[in-house]
Amino acid sequence: MGLIDLHCHLLPGLDDGSPDLETSLKLAQDAVNDGVSHAVVTPHHLNGRYVNHKQDVLKAATAFQAALKDANIPLTIFAGQEVRLSDRIIPALDADDILFTDADGKYMLLEFPSSEVPNYAKSVIFQLQQRGITPVIVHPERNKQILNKPELLADFLQNGCLTQLTASSYLGTFGKEIEKVTTQFIQAGQGTILASDAHALSHREYELGEGIAKLAKQFGQDVADQYQANAKALINGDLVTMHWRPLKKKKKFLGLF
Ligand SMILES: [Fe+2]
Repeated sequence: MGLIDLHCHLLPGLDDGSPDLETSLKLAQDAVNDGVSHAVVTPHHLNGRYVNHKQDVLKAATAFQAALKDANIPLTIFAGQEVRLSDRIIPALDADDILFTDADGKYMLLEFPSSEVPNYAKSVIFQLQQRGITPVIVHPERNKQILNKPELLADFLQNGCLTQLTASSYLGTFGKEIEKVTTQFIQAGQGTILASDAHALSHREYELGEGIAKLAKQFGQDVADQYQANAKALINGDLVTMHWRPLKKKKKFLGLF
């Protein structure tokens, strides 16, 4: 088995990911070249701009898997969603309109708005957990409020959430600051998985393989293996245990000079 990518926008024409089948097939080939063998395809859902109903994503994923087979691209895909935190999640669950990383509905990819951590986040997360769902907070390192105050993430880990860090963040594609905070999260054991969050953007390569290789080089093969084992657990609905530490507090400037 190759790498497992739990967050990517490979399905054609559903969101701001791939615009058409040709691009999707190219992205899928990039994924395979990057070492990925299994991917959960996760169009945006309920994010204010895109609504991708469960049944539509399932249909699109079935059609895309057939197209992959025709094109001889050895990538196995599963239908998922990147679900935006909102008060519409609970009604969507009641309407059976949510897809998870696993078939049993245990792990949900949950996206905060990019600018802030809303004050209702904890209440929605609590309601999800009451239903036996563990939220996996996607790319917390790209959220402005968390970027300014990275110790905020620990509150969510403390409450039982998991985290998906984006490979490109770790590799510095979004700048030094995001790379630094991502590295701090990894160092403190606050990352659960790495994923590509691949879109069809010209300035973003498929970087999951490179991200996993950097993990092995910087933190050791055990850590890289753990990230992949966690990804496998999330696709299979198995238990994941985090061993995280709080981030070290920044030293305060004492004003001596
Ligand atoms: Fe995404």
